[in-house]
Amino acid sequence: MMPNERRAEKKNRPFALRASHRYHENELIMSRYEQILSQIRSDERYQNNLDWGEPRSGHPEGSVRCHIDELEINLGRLKSRLSEDDVAKLRILVHTHDTFKAESKRGVPISHPRSHSSLAKEFLAQFTDESDLLDIVQLHDEPYALWRKFLASGRHEDRLLELIDAIADWNLFLAFLIIDGCTKGKTREPLIWFFDQVQDRVDSHVTIHWLI
Ligand SMILES: [Fe+2]
Ligand SMILES: [Fe+2]
Repeated sequence: MMPNERRAEKKNRPFALRASHRYHENELIMSRYEQILSQIRSDERYQNNLDWGEPRSGHPEGSVRCHIDELEINLGRLKSRLSEDDVAKLRILVHTHDTFKAESKRGVPISHPRSHSSLAKEFLAQFTDESDLLDIVQLHDEPYALWRKFLASGRHEDRLLELIDAIADWNLFLAFLIIDGCTKGKTREPLIWFFDQVQDRVDSHVTIHWLI
């Protein structure tokens, strides 16, 4: 294909394809993680849950769809500090972690099979068996729960040690916590507390200075 033909072909491509796929010669090259995200976004269960949620405390944006949009902007702001693979993994986490709130049982512990985290993990497990991604989806609200426990009783240490043990990729986990926690509706206090708790105990180049 001549360069001008390639330019014309590219111009006529649907925007979504141009924006989320990389092209090499005449071939469409999607990374493994981009393929997973594309499958997730095409899934009916994912699509049916996006409009769940009214504006409420901690989530003035309301719907899951608006939460995802806000997190995509946060991810864009951290992108230059992250590897291409980590950006793609974080997008998968952004699009799955809270998407099953509509189907969840309210007020149950994070580990409950019907919590929004467990349902999100179960859904994501249909597309990947990567434990780094699955563990982060399951435990994404654990730091906030630990902060609440610390405020209520100060007895959070055992559960914190379990979390430190459970998460293998601390760069990914801490980057995701910033993306999910630095929104208009959330105070930065739990995040600042959590970074203070783990900074000398885990191996990560993501620091409190990354907060948005
Ligand atoms: Fe959540
Ligand atoms: Fe979230």
